Order: sequence, then C-alpha cells, then structure tokens
Amino acid sequence: MFNLSRTALLAAAALLLVACNPNNGPAELTEKRIAAVAERIAPHGQVAMEGDAMTAPPAAAGGVARSGEEIYNSNCVACHSSGAMGAPKFGDAAAWAARVDAKGLETIYANAINGIGMMPAKGTCMSCSDDDIKATTDYMVENSQ
Ligand code: HEC
Repeated sequence: MFNLSRTALLAAAALLLVACNPNNGPAELTEKRIAAVAERIAPHGQVAMEGDAMTAPPAAAGGVARSGEEIYNSNCVACHSSGAMGAPKFGDAAAWAARVDAKGLETIYANAINGIGMMPAKGTCMSCSDDDIKATTDYMVENSQ
C-alpha cells in the first residue's frame, strides 16, 4: 500500500541516517530530527482504501452506492446526452425502444458492461460495479420512454 511503503522507506532512510552519522547526538535529538523530516515529506492528502478506518466517508468513492442518475451525470452524459458517436440519446424513446426490442435488456446490460462499438466498457466508469452499470442503464431506459 502507498502509505505503508512510504513509511517503510522513511524508516529505512532514518536508520541509514543514524547508522552513517558518526556524530550521533543523543537519541532524543535524532528522534526529533526524524519526526521533523517525516512531517516535512508527509503527503498532503491521504489515500483511503476500501476497508480502511476513516473518520469521514468520502462523498462518492468506489464501493459507496451511487444512484443510476449520479453515475449517468458523471460518466455517461458526455456521449448519451448528445448522441455522440451514435450513442442512443437520453430521452430518445425510439432509439432506446429499438435496442430493447431487438436485443432484450440482458444483452444491453452486458454490452454496457463489456463495451460495444464506440461504447467503452462500463462507459469508462471503472469504479462502477456491474450492478451500478445495470442501474444506470435502467435510469436511461426508464427516462427514455
Ligand atoms: C465515449 C462515449 C460513451 C460513454 C462515455 C458512454 N457511452 Fe454508452 N454508448 C456509446 C455508444 C457510441 C453507444 C452505441 C454503441 C453501438 O451500438 O455500437 C452506446 C450504447 C450504450 C448502451 C446500449 C447498448 C446496446 O446494446 O444497445 C447502453 C446501455 C449504454 N451505452 C450505457 C452507458 C452507460 C451506463 C454509460 C456510463 C456509465 C455509458 N453508456 C457511457 C457511447 C458512450
């Protein structure tokens, strides 16, 4: 993990510093020096991984349930609001009905998850689960009738 390796590296560097310095001061001074260095090079932001204990939950990180509407607005709207590259347009009942009638919803879900033609896998929402993509597809289909 990022923080772990950074800490390990820092500890190794500190050890090296102590070992190589012939004019070692009292242990307390060395500790202070190490603490100062640690503070100086500490990352400004911390990366929280799923499962880490956190004081406040992030707004909408991966793993946190998001609605189809939210995912649509952040990941799909760019292509599906304009119909870019032949994407079925949000709200275009005929375009969506044609697809649903021809293939069935299950196939459409699978195509949204795996990608089809110019449609990238998961619409590039790599933090989305398969269920997230299904919910987002439902959101688009239900609002295009
Ligand atoms: C880079 C543009 C782009 C983005 C971003 C994008 N799509 Fe698409 N999408 C397309 C295009 C183009 C098609 C039509 C592909 C085809 O039929 O060849 C399509 C088709 C689809 C279909 C119909 C699949 C089928 O089998 O008919 C679904 C469902 C879909 N997109 C869902 C999504 C979802 C959900 C997102 C966001 C998470 C998303 N798309 C983001 C371009 C995009």
